[in-house]
Amino acid sequence: MVKIAVLHHAPRPPWSSLRLINAALEMGIDASYIVWDYLSVRIGKEPCHVLYRGKCFPYNAVIVRGIGRGINPNQLLYRFTVLSELENDGILVVNPARSLITARNKLRSLLALEKCGIKVPRTTVTENITHALRTVREYGKAVIKPLTGSLGLGSFKVEDEDTAYYIVNLLSELNEPLYIQEYLEKKDNRDIRVFVVGEKAIAAMYRYASDQQWKTNIAQGARAEPMKLTYEIEEIAIRATKCLGLYYSGVDIIETKNKDYYVVEVNASPLWRGLQQATNIDPAKHIIKEVVRLLRQ
Ligand SMILES: Nc1ncnc2c1ncn2[C@@H]1O[C@H](COP(=O)(O)OP(=O)(O)O)[C@@H](O)[C@H]1O
Ligand SMILES: [Mg+2]
Repeated sequence: MVKIAVLHHAPRPPWSSLRLINAALEMGIDASYIVWDYLSVRIGKEPCHVLYRGKCFPYNAVIVRGIGRGINPNQLLYRFTVLSELENDGILVVNPARSLITARNKLRSLLALEKCGIKVPRTTVTENITHALRTVREYGKAVIKPLTGSLGLGSFKVEDEDTAYYIVNLLSELNEPLYIQEYLEKKDNRDIRVFVVGEKAIAAMYRYASDQQWKTNIAQGARAEPMKLTYEIEEIAIRATKCLGLYYSGVDIIETKNKDYYVVEVNASPLWRGLQQATNIDPAKHIIKEVVRLLRQ
């Protein structure tokens, strides 16, 4: 019998994780919520390497919903090693460990997306303050983002050199790489979030930024409205998801005023409460079906 685990770092399952578990149970599939704290890896005459609560990992598939926020580089290395080792042991990891690493890193993912022929904003990443400031001047309006981050947290829009000077210097003091991106003027101050599962775009919404805001994350107060998918957007989202090797994703697309579409990010563990409320589509069911399909392959 198939057993699915939903893995996160929070002690209690967040909304989307809970939806996954309920969706599985509604389909008669055994599913449990598990946390990083009870995982361990053992080397030496052992029947298996990855253990959960002291026993060989007892699930056929694990849906990774959270790697950890604000964790240190060693923790991150450890957690990715755990996921890779689960894959080596024949357990289905969703999304795959390598793709999770790529998607977490905004620079790595934009490089990959560009290679796949997907339009992404002009972006420069450097540790050199002078080069960073020159780039801000070159782009005119720019966004300075953390290399890894989500929910719109920690990104700044800079339009003048003095603000850029302070931000760039402060980030450099913190040993942060300086991720500078051209600011794209969004049509109607909204962006597009497409939810892809397998090879299908199952739902899409417009996210309208709240007043005076330029970020369109729901977590930043954006308003969600259902969107009718067009072939063009569907194709971009599916291609971006495939490009990063993800089984499901949330693709952030900016439509500019002259109708160009740019992918700014592909989320490997997207939240979907806002999307579900706006569209009435439940991604959890689609994800569980996809996991079952992948297990049967
Ligand atoms: N280059 C850009 N130009 C204009 N707006 C942007 C740009 N990059 C990001 N944004 C806005 O900021 C939001 C958050 O950026 P994103 O790259 O998706 O990071 P996060 O992981 O924080 O969601 C986007 O949804 C979009 O509304
Ligand atoms: Mg985003």
